Amino acid sequence: MNDTSGPATILVVFGATGDLMARKIAPSLLHLDRQGLLHPRLRVIGFSRRPWSDADFRDRVRDTLTERHQDPGPLEAFLKRFTYRRGTFEDATAYHALAEDIGGIATDWGGCVDKLFYLAVPPDNYETILGNLAASGLTSVCNAETGYTRVLIEKPFGHDVASSKALDELLASLFTEEQIYRIDHYLAKEMLQGILAFRFHNDLLESAWNRAGIERIDISLLETIGVEKRGRFYDGVGALRDVGQNHLLQMLALVTMDQPRTLDADDIRAARASLLETLRPLLPHEVARSSYRAQHEGYRGIEGVDPESETETYFRLKTMMSGPRWAGVPVSFESGKRIAPGPLKRIVVTFRHRQPCLCDGTTHLRNRVVFTLEPDDTVSITFWAKQPGFDYEVEERAFDFALYEKREKLQYVEEYAKLLYDAVRGDQTSFVSTDEVRAMWRFVDPVIEGWSDGAVPLESYTPDTHEAVERAREALGRTGTKPQVGVLGLGKMGAGIARNLLDRGWEVVGWNRTTSVARAMEPDGLTAADSLEDCVAALRPPRIVWLMVPAGNAVDGVLFGTGDAPGLADLLEPDDIVIDGGNSRFTSDEPRAERLRGRGIDFLDCGTSGGPSGARNGACLMIGGDREAFERAEAVFADIAVQGGYRFFPGVGSGHFVKMVHNGIEYGMMQAIAEGFSLMRRSERDLDLEAVADVYQHASVIESRLVGWLADAYARHGDGLDPVSGSVGHTGEGAWTVEAARLAGLDVPVIEAALHFRLDSDDAPSYTGKVVQALRNEFGGHGLGT
Ligand code: BG6
Repeated sequence: MNDTSGPATILVVFGATGDLMARKIAPSLLHLDRQGLLHPRLRVIGFSRRPWSDADFRDRVRDTLTERHQDPGPLEAFLKRFTYRRGTFEDATAYHALAEDIGGIATDWGGCVDKLFYLAVPPDNYETILGNLAASGLTSVCNAETGYTRVLIEKPFGHDVASSKALDELLASLFTEEQIYRIDHYLAKEMLQGILAFRFHNDLLESAWNRAGIERIDISLLETIGVEKRGRFYDGVGALRDVGQNHLLQMLALVTMDQPRTLDADDIRAARASLLETLRPLLPHEVARSSYRAQHEGYRGIEGVDPESETETYFRLKTMMSGPRWAGVPVSFESGKRIAPGPLKRIVVTFRHRQPCLCDGTTHLRNRVVFTLEPDDTVSITFWAKQPGFDYEVEERAFDFALYEKREKLQYVEEYAKLLYDAVRGDQTSFVSTDEVRAMWRFVDPVIEGWSDGAVPLESYTPDTHEAVERAREALGRTGTKPQVGVLGLGKMGAGIARNLLDRGWEVVGWNRTTSVARAMEPDGLTAADSLEDCVAALRPPRIVWLMVPAGNAVDGVLFGTGDAPGLADLLEPDDIVIDGGNSRFTSDEPRAERLRGRGIDFLDCGTSGGPSGARNGACLMIGGDREAFERAEAVFADIAVQGGYRFFPGVGSGHFVKMVHNGIEYGMMQAIAEGFSLMRRSERDLDLEAVADVYQHASVIESRLVGWLADAYARHGDGLDPVSGSVGHTGEGAWTVEAARLAGLDVPVIEAALHFRLDSDDAPSYTGKVVQALRNEFGGHGLGT
């Protein structure tokens, strides 16, 4: 930036006599200056209430720098950049004087300067300052093509969703998003920026960087320092708002976001925001169960802190991720002041061990990737290696990569220097977008609400010890507990789903009306329950129960009981989720959901396609219901489905509706295939039908799973399909589709004809019927007869 032809910038710091200037801004500017990165024409105007002169201001900056740096070097030239404008934030004339100061510098420099307004003040002053800036004409650019006016603001951006929205509206009334630079200094940390390079410029780990490969993520920001002189500020926010809502969530975003389209700021910010938007806000009971908060002894005696303060100086929070890439992966966040030994700031990514364990059966070995910010900037990959020697013993070792040797670390300086450098250049990558702010508050708000409603008691810990960390771990339970699900109904489909989930690391509690069926699956790892009561008792709340019983009365029996026997509605608790994964008619979903809702139990309807082999190895799922319940149960769907094979459709019954129509379409498609193959069979050409089905499967327009299954059926039974019945069975969905179309006033002649063909086939078996029935046998496991 030593090129004097570049942009001349004036940095106006509101609140220039305060702590932010001393601790962050002045030392960072010096850091840039020393590296030759500060434009010779960058000037700093301090704006504040104190009756200071330029000389006073420079003295103060000098003192600050001398206090903080052991050897700041000669400062005279650097200090010349600084001037002072006295004024209160409310005083309109002071802004006019500021405009004149800026105008004067601009004239000296040839007429045009860029302006960077840094609001180093508490947020309640923003409105006054921004309003006065606009009124004095200072927010406009001096040159519409190349000039800029930008505003830099510090966290916290509001104190909840509503206030951050209000703040955004205020900013948006005066600036465009491109002009607003919201600071989260963690985004400027070398190690966190390095995560993008680590993940997206290397392919080694990225293919396992998802729910299939990663078991859990743990993020810590443990400090040895206390709140220092910031008692008043800190007491109003607490640890979760101070670092959780911003730094910790950004750490998670960087480590789990999708690859951005490009490395442009907009794309990177959009990728971070999309990830943050997948975070599901916790329900009140989850806040109670998944969070811990504590305050260190002595905190209430700190200057500025309320002597009866209930503010946390430590917290730990657990959640599960959502979205197709990460659904169900547990994440923990923790941060605390005055925790020893320390500091420890890091992200630990623990991998699953997907292969069978070659160990004593008790501990399965795990690999971890650890991104450490403090004490050192390192990336470390732990792995298991054979110990040298005669015996075969393995031990944990690590590949360590130190980003760079830490020099003297001045808190904030490196990061703020980068942020200021980027703000001058107009690079918003390391600044937080409005979408990110919104998403982060959306996640944090319910936790803070829960805490202020008394859902989680405030514990106390001895400062400068590890006590808080240990107690939090105890209180929130062991890590690595398997997720649980109940599967009710262990027929062809239910057993497949249960086995599929067992393979993917779930603890499955299974129940079947004939109890021996569940018992027979115990060797596969199933926890067999003899009764619905046992099943519910074996599951930790909030429970997820997957129903796979025949559509109709069986579903009502299990849900609402039969005779004196209780049903799930009597046994489950509020916030438990029931998923009807069978082929229930969509019209029966709402009445059932309504009855369950009355007891606080959520209901999701799920159409399951792909037959028993899909259930066992990866199905296609169409899910309806309430989005929030879907997100809580998403991990189950993601594990049962093939990759990308589940979608949510809002509204109770939507899943079964989409599945019903799927079956209607299936009727028509099967009928058309069957009619075509009948024609070929009748023709005099002596066609090899298995060969026909096979050639259709090679890039023809009608290549499909159905034609593939037909090829299999011909291979199995011969072209005559002799063992197959010429009458076709049906389970209702075709008739329901025709009925739904009639009610909607829509003609569906193909589906209707296919339905009538099946109904009439009872009395009129045919070769066409054999083809349809053979297909049903292949994919649905229906018998060869009807
Ligand atoms: C700030 C918080 O945002 O981050 C401080 O307000 C905290 O309370 C600091 O100490 C931690 O930053 P770093 O860079 O030292 O990890």
